[in-house]
Amino acid sequence: MDIVTGQLRLRGKLALVTGAAQGIGEATVRRLASEGARVVCVDLDDKVVAMAQAVGGETLAIVGDVTDVTVLRAAVQETERRWGRIDILVNNAGIDGAPALLADGEDRDFDRVIDVNLRACWLAMKLVLPGMVAGGGGAIVNVASVAALIGFETLSIYSASKAALVGMTRTAALEYGRHNIRVNALCPGGVLTPLALSFMDEGTTQAWADKHALKRFAEPEEIAAAVAFLASNDASFITGAAIPVDGGMTAH
Ligand SMILES: NC(=O)c1ccc[n+]([C@@H]2O[C@H](COP(=O)([O-])OP(=O)(O)OC[C@H]3O[C@@H](n4cnc5c(N)ncnc54)[C@H](O)[C@@H]3O)[C@@H](O)[C@H]2O)c1
Repeated sequence: MDIVTGQLRLRGKLALVTGAAQGIGEATVRRLASEGARVVCVDLDDKVVAMAQAVGGETLAIVGDVTDVTVLRAAVQETERRWGRIDILVNNAGIDGAPALLADGEDRDFDRVIDVNLRACWLAMKLVLPGMVAGGGGAIVNVASVAALIGFETLSIYSASKAALVGMTRTAALEYGRHNIRVNALCPGGVLTPLALSFMDEGTTQAWADKHALKRFAEPEEIAAAVAFLASNDASFITGAAIPVDGGMTAH
């Protein structure tokens, strides 16, 4: 809520969120919708349909793989056909790949992680930017990771994908700032979602929590709050930034 006007911060905005079925993506959809945005939710998992229905309002679900350009193109075209434009893109879909020392990594894992975490974000930005330019502005939030900023043993491919996403974010911000388009990356620390649970063995959960100054994981809603901030006019002078939302993990 804007304390000056009393209006919802994202009222009338149109947002597209990838990886929306669960975790940070789902929390982001709920947060953006609660702030007045209409949200298009894309996910591989068809539970995104029930999630979008539960959120209600003008929320649309699209089931598909973000690495497939025809899926992304259809999502952008359908959104623009229905609602005229896209103001906010949240590139959130991501995977961590199988944990492995660098020399033990598999080619297919490298290709899939880069495809989902980097190439799909590039494709989505390519598809929405012309409409944002024509519409006079927009905000893009790329969900990276603290793994873009510091190393994590057994996550070399994931780290590389997220560091590359930060590099792409900074360059896109330079290229499109003149069109009033802001492009930022968010670098979460550990967030209690199915993805995080997949790389923690039983017994290592507390050790992971202890890597954060706050000695705990984030709830997905705490990341969604930062996404909503970056997507809103409250962040009107923030672009090209890679913002840690990491409970102090990178404060060492
Ligand atoms: N959870 C963490 O600790 C953490 C930390 C830092 C960054 N992140 C990043 O946050 C983002 C969301 O992570 P999360 O923890 O919510 O993960 P999650 O696994 O809980 O949810 C990811 C969602 O993305 C969807 N998805 C995956 N690949 C897809 C594809 N090819 N096409 C369409 N949808 C796809 C999944 O179906 C799932 O619904 C990811 O980019 C992740 O790298 C997570």
